[in-house]
Amino acid sequence: MKTYGLADTDIEFSRLGYGCMQIGGSREPIDRDSVDAATRIVAKAIDQGITLFDHADIYCMGRSESVFGEVMQQIPGIRDQIVIQSKCGIRLENDPQPGDPQRYEFSRDHIVRSVEASLRRLDTDRLDILLLHRPDPLAEPEQIARAFDELASAGKVRYFGVSNHNAGQIALLQKHLDQRLVINQLEISLLHNGLIAEGIRSNIVSADYPAAAGTLDYCRERDILVQAWSPLAGGALVRVPEDASPRIRACAREVAALAEREGLPPEAIALAWLLRHPVGIQPIVGTTREDRLDACCAADGVDLSREDWYRLFAAARGGPVP
Ligand SMILES: NC(=O)c1ccc[n+]([C@@H]2O[C@H](COP(=O)([O-])OP(=O)(O)OC[C@H]3O[C@@H](n4cnc5c(N)ncnc54)[C@H](OP(=O)(O)O)[C@@H]3O)[C@@H](O)[C@H]2O)c1
Repeated sequence: MKTYGLADTDIEFSRLGYGCMQIGGSREPIDRDSVDAATRIVAKAIDQGITLFDHADIYCMGRSESVFGEVMQQIPGIRDQIVIQSKCGIRLENDPQPGDPQRYEFSRDHIVRSVEASLRRLDTDRLDILLLHRPDPLAEPEQIARAFDELASAGKVRYFGVSNHNAGQIALLQKHLDQRLVINQLEISLLHNGLIAEGIRSNIVSADYPAAAGTLDYCRERDILVQAWSPLAGGALVRVPEDASPRIRACAREVAALAEREGLPPEAIALAWLLRHPVGIQPIVGTTREDRLDACCAADGVDLSREDWYRLFAAARGGPVP
């Protein structure tokens, strides 16, 4: 699989990443079946050349990281061949007190505590990358700076980034940090294309203009790698839900038609649409099935023409570009 170099780091990793959100299973404590299933999908990902594994402290209430820690025991030598990324900052309902609401927290104590718990669950001494999961309106950048300094100097986190942040939020944060923010993970897919579409709507009044204007251009200008979460719109692009809107149906039809024409799986076409964008998007795919992961990885061999890219874009927007 082709790779991306992560600017100002020693990391070179696969163009597609694997998202570990679902691998924790539904049973507490983690069971053998979950570990076996996760070992199979992680081994398949590695066979396909995937070297980035995306986590968060909250995935399956921490079980996804615990299962991944067990998977690493099953595949000797894997730790030094892969990049482990995790996230912190979302606190779930009832944590720690019954009745506490779901909220965000980027205090120094919460960030450090969360990373230390992730390291224990993953059974590793370091995260390669830590992302702040979602912007916290109450965040104090100085607290984040303290946490990042401590984690970096203790060797517990090598590099830092954010998720779901817009350009202004990144700029504000970066002003207070000694560590460079190297990644922004955002929801982007053919069906959730606002961050790409806003670029062609400059100076066109529109009710659905996203509140993240300029974010992709900002990331490109600052050499911040853009990752796409839910790059297949949670599967909706390949398995159209019964209650799907006409726009979703039309988009999935266009994906299927191109896939048939090229003799490729639809997953490969939908992901190739992201890979074709010059910002250099790294889709984080989340299927738990090996055959579907193969279908996703076929995207690496696809180079969409400008005409096909715009054909898909028009279907996704529900009409041609102005
Ligand atoms: N930063 C954030 O805020 C954030 C938020 C959400 C997710 N993420 C990250 O992004 C990763 C990917 O997210 P995602 O799982 O939503 O991505 P996705 O790749 O768009 O969707 C994967 C889902 O689609 C289903 N699917 C895929 N192909 C299918 C097919 N051909 N037919 C039917 N179902 C199909 C999968 O089910 P099967 O498993 O059955 O194939 C799985 O439930 C997560 O693992 C996580 O690491 C980050």
